[in-house]
Amino acid sequence: MDREQISRLAHADHPVAAPLDDDAVRGLLHHGIRRGDERVLDLGCGRGEWLLRALAAHPGLRAEGVDTAESALAEARAAARRLGVDDRLTLHHRDAADFPASHAFDVVLCVGATHAFGGLLPTLAAARAHLTPGGRVLVGDGYWAHRPTPEAVEILGDLADLPTTVDTVTADGWTPVHGHLSTRRELDGYEWSWTGSLASWALDHPDDPGAATALTRATTHRDQWLRGYRDAFGFVCLVLRPTNG
Ligand SMILES: C[S@@+](CC[C@H](N)C(=O)[O-])C[C@H]1O[C@@H](n2cnc3c(N)ncnc32)[C@H](O)[C@@H]1O
Repeated sequence: MDREQISRLAHADHPVAAPLDDDAVRGLLHHGIRRGDERVLDLGCGRGEWLLRALAAHPGLRAEGVDTAESALAEARAAARRLGVDDRLTLHHRDAADFPASHAFDVVLCVGATHAFGGLLPTLAAARAHLTPGGRVLVGDGYWAHRPTPEAVEILGDLADLPTTVDTVTADGWTPVHGHLSTRRELDGYEWSWTGSLASWALDHPDDPGAATALTRATTHRDQWLRGYRDAFGFVCLVLRPTNG
């Protein structure tokens, strides 16, 4: 059972693959998409949930998603057909870090996938390269809400606190025009969903060769969350405009 399969099973019951509830996703899309006829690009789109919601809400919108996980893209494709928006959605199975777009985009999303670029600033540099003048970026990334233990840093890497994260973004030439801090309810809900969906699948498929691995992975992840990073981890989404046009 590889990382892609684990992620697909773990995210089966959650609105998006990040600690955000439906209202938060709706609010962030509202602040990113202002007209309804935009071209939208999602770097690390996963199952395409952000794009599908945007396409369903705006009949004039066109969207493209990039992801390395073929199974997630297949789910996005199937969902787009069910929603009748597949003629306005293009999906690219490739590394987002070297995605060669043939045109610019009015809105660029990257939520929970900044690791694909090596961090927040390289993600913003990539987004900038894809953006039309006057465009907006919606980026979601982790931060330390409280001082992390060494174990939390080992699990999640070396994040910054929230003011430092925002300072880093503004110093890079961006102005936040909206933001969302995942609530305790969203953060906990995401982790219970991730670990619970994966564990549930394992219990439902005891004869599957991947069942034991899935159950162990769910247990390890739950333990790392509860013992390692629950008290320190936060997740911020920012809607950004280039400060100088
Ligand atoms: C936590 S999920 C977030 C998915 C989506 N943005 C969402 O919020 O629902 C991270 C996604 O990034 C994708 N990913 C990781 N590295 C990537 C890369 N180098 N290029 C493109 N996608 C990548 C994964 O396959 C996964 O679908």
